[in-house]
Amino acid sequence: NAIMELTLLIKKINKLQDAFASVSVNNPIDLPQIVVIGSQSSGKSSVLENIVGKDFLPRGSGIVTRRPLVLQLINRPNSRGEVGGVALPEGQQNIEQRQSVSSSNPNEIEEWGEFLHLPGQKFTDFSKIRQEIERETESKVGKNAGISPQPINLRIYSPNVLTLTMVDLPGLTRVPVGDQPKDIEKLIRDMIMKYITKSNAIILAVTAANTDLANSDGLKMARDVDPDGFRTIGVLTKIDLMDQGTDVVDILAGRVIALKLGYVPVVNRGQRDIDNKKKISAALEAEKNFFENHSSYRSRAQFCGTPFLARKLSTILLHHIKNTLPDIKARISQHLQKYEQELEQLGDPLGDDDSNNMNAILNIITEFTSEFRTAIDGTSSDIAT
Ligand code: GDP
Ligand code: NA
Ligand code: MG
Repeated sequence: NAIMELTLLIKKINKLQDAFASVSVNNPIDLPQIVVIGSQSSGKSSVLENIVGKDFLPRGSGIVTRRPLVLQLINRPNSRGEVGGVALPEGQQNIEQRQSVSSSNPNEIEEWGEFLHLPGQKFTDFSKIRQEIERETESKVGKNAGISPQPINLRIYSPNVLTLTMVDLPGLTRVPVGDQPKDIEKLIRDMIMKYITKSNAIILAVTAANTDLANSDGLKMARDVDPDGFRTIGVLTKIDLMDQGTDVVDILAGRVIALKLGYVPVVNRGQRDIDNKKKISAALEAEKNFFENHSSYRSRAQFCGTPFLARKLSTILLHHIKNTLPDIKARISQHLQKYEQELEQLGDPLGDDDSNNMNAILNIITEFTSEFRTAIDGTSSDIAT
């Protein structure tokens, strides 16, 4: 299945990245980044948080996300040495798995966050992570709606995440408020462009279902950088807030603005749920009930909601990685050649550690290339979207 296959691929790539890092070569492989875009308060941070399955992002009405948050999820084995086989949260089931993992050994820290601006400080309480994002935002841009393109970098280490990067961005807005400059719209647009122009960005274009799709800022920007729609997923939030008797069935069927990768409708927590500190597990359960009991969505409930969005993302990531494998291979052999030349020029025997690392890399690369030959050559790698 796509998720298992993806998990295996990513594990290999992680191994390769670690090996390269051990000889001080960073990021030889450009893994996709998932970037969330859309109008202010369309529900971007809520969507991201639900996908990650953790409560840690500032959310709310008005401009809450005021600097980009570059979130690196890093998979690490738990205390029993197991690597979570979970790609992205699959709804209820995984939430339970997660809870059983974290309660298995209460003394062992299994999941934590760490900020680039606070090196070495482990945040095990995820609500403290949210506070730190808010504090760090205010320290740079004040309390009065100011924004900045300078990102906040946060890493989350956990046995229950896939190693990949997600970016939460401020929403598009037109009218400056508070300390915002007159050209706020352009400022935010440029900030978003920086992240979505990269060809390895997978764009989650978020639109609130109670607004007009034709006016969707997220979709418009996505189309500018990804006109063929190869890497844009439409996410429709606030389905629960639509007027009685209206639904998004026509949009889902591609009859409004067609999108190659399609749309996923979701129901996130509303402001009252946030105020009442409703848990993600309860929110996912409520979302499931909503779609299963709604006359418009009942018959297609398995294609609705956050778990389906997570699965869709996994499949797209898998496709993306497989498509970039030939390029990865080329880069690996370039690196390899460069090293061999450097080694020759050095002439001098390397220290034990260096030569061990070098051997480790060579082994992994050999393993990597042979294992992925099948994938690169196709046949077994075809997956249904
Ligand atoms: P962002 O500004 O795009 O990051 O949006 P947020 O995630 O901060 O959400 C903005 C507001 O919309 C918050 O009050 C959320 O509770 C609310 N919200 C987001 N998604 C939904 C949804 O699917 N249903 C409901 N009822 N409220 C939502
Ligand atoms: Na908001
Ligand atoms: Mg936000």
